[in-house]
Parts: sequence; C-alpha cells; structure tokens
Amino acid sequence: MTIPFPVHEASDRPGRPPHIADSADIDGLARIGDGTQVWHLAQVREHAQIGAGCILGRGSYIGPGVVLGDNCKVQNFAQIYEPAVLENGVFVGPAAVFTNDVFPRAITVDGKRKNADDWDAVGVTVRTGASIGARAVCIAPVTIGAWALVAAGAVVTQDVPDHALMVGVPARRIGWVGRAGVPLEPIGDDLFRCPSTGEEYREHNGVLTAIPSQAVRTGHLRSAHALPPSRADE
Ligand SMILES: CC(C)(COP(=O)(O)OP(=O)(O)OC[C@H]1O[C@@H](n2cnc3c(N)ncnc32)[C@H](O)[C@@H]1OP(=O)(O)O)[C@@H](O)C(=O)NCCC(=O)NCCS
Repeated sequence: MTIPFPVHEASDRPGRPPHIADSADIDGLARIGDGTQVWHLAQVREHAQIGAGCILGRGSYIGPGVVLGDNCKVQNFAQIYEPAVLENGVFVGPAAVFTNDVFPRAITVDGKRKNADDWDAVGVTVRTGASIGARAVCIAPVTIGAWALVAAGAVVTQDVPDHALMVGVPARRIGWVGRAGVPLEPIGDDLFRCPSTGEEYREHNGVLTAIPSQAVRTGHLRSAHALPPSRADE
C-alpha cells in the first residue's frame, strides 16, 4: 500500500509519517497528511484527502473525495459521506453521520439497483473549529458555521451560523459558543463574553462577530464590561 504524504505547514508534527493501524482500510488513491493517526477498522475511500495532524477513530468512514483540513478529530464510528468538506480543526463526535442523499432509494422505479450515477450527491460543509456532537446527524446539503457546536443527538436540517450552539431535532439555536466551545455569557446589549478566554462578541441580525481586542481596548466598540487593558490582548 503506497500512501502519498502531502506536506501541510499547519501540522504540529511536520514531517512525521501518518500512523495507520494494520486493520485500517486506506484506498491507494487517498491522501493522508503528516502525523495523522488512523485507527483500527477505519476506512478512507478513494480520492479522499485527509490533512495533517488529524485523528480518524476506530470504525470511522471517510467517503470518496471527502476533504478534511488539518488537525480534525473524527471519533469512533462517525460516518462522513461524500462530498463532505471539513475545514481545519473540526471535531466530529462518535457515531455522527453526514448524509449525502436527500431522497434516498436503493432501486429505480424499474426495480434496478441504483448506481452512483443515478443520483446527485449533496454534501455537508463544516467550517473551521466547529464541533459535531455524538450521534448527531447533519442532513446535506448544509453548512455548519465556524466554531459552532452541535449537541449530541441533534439533527441539523438547516445552515448553522458561526458560533451557534444547536440542540434538538430539528436542531435549533439555544445560544452562542466561543472558540473554546464554552457557552458565551451576555454582558450587555447584543454583547457576549467567553468565560474561558475573555473574548467578546457582538450579535447583529443573527450573526455573531468577534470584537477585536484592540477595538474593545480603545473604545471603538463600547462594551458594557470591557476587559481591562491587561487582559484585553489575551
Ligand atoms: C449541547 C451541550 C453543549 C449543552 O451543554 P450545557 O450548556 O451544559 O447544557 P445544559 O445542561 O445547561 O442544557 C441547556 C438546555 O439544553 C438542553 N440540552 C442539552 N443538551 C442537549 C442535547 N444534546 N439535546 C437536546 N437538548 C439538550 C437541556 O435539556 C437544557 O434545556 P432546558 O433549558 O430546556 O432545560 C451538551 O449537552 C452537549 O450535547 N455536548 C456535546 C457532547 C458530545 O457529543 N461530545 C462528543 C464527545 S463524546
């Protein structure tokens, strides 16, 4: 089995070959990045591209042509069907499923088994840093925004805004999370703060945007509880 090793600058293990468990099934046309670990019984199909520093858990499935950025974690038995695209640092919980067929059928109306050419695959896109909880289902076509967090068992049927905290079936937004994944606390009119990092965010028309720390410090964007200068650049 020959695996081409693309160079990914973002790897925290640059130059290290991937670790592939003996029982993993990696197609010869798949690409696996530096330092990526692929555990037992995982399957990576043809033309899939896995970035550097990723972890593919036991029994996970990566469909043909699926693209993962660097430092993604795909937990045990997660199933990612093509043409999904995951940007850098995406977390996919155990047994999560990314679908690719809105109205699935095994056979045509003539009773013949359908082939790949008999339907149009649609994909799930997950932006940088977002997390998908255990056994969640993302129903393509759908985009999960950057740093969003989808709860365990949720069923995502619509696009998810950046930083949204989504729960339930169908998934609905119950709050916002920061880059650390912790729910944000309201600190004033349309303003939120991460209790973990101190980062502040502003909500406008259903969109959450990080407030640059410099802007908070100099008063360009007034916060009800602006960080003291010593912490504003953390
Ligand atoms: C969504 C989540 C982040 C919320 O955590 P939290 O802020 O501590 O949640 P709380 O217990 O305060 O619950 C907030 C509300 O959301 C509901 N809720 C929490 N998790 C939920 C879930 N998975 N599905 C549906 N509703 C959920 C709670 O019932 C509560 O509702 P209420 O306000 O009507 O009582 C967490 O429950 C979760 O699902 N995390 C993902 C875990 C996971 O899959 N990890 C993967 C690695 S194993």
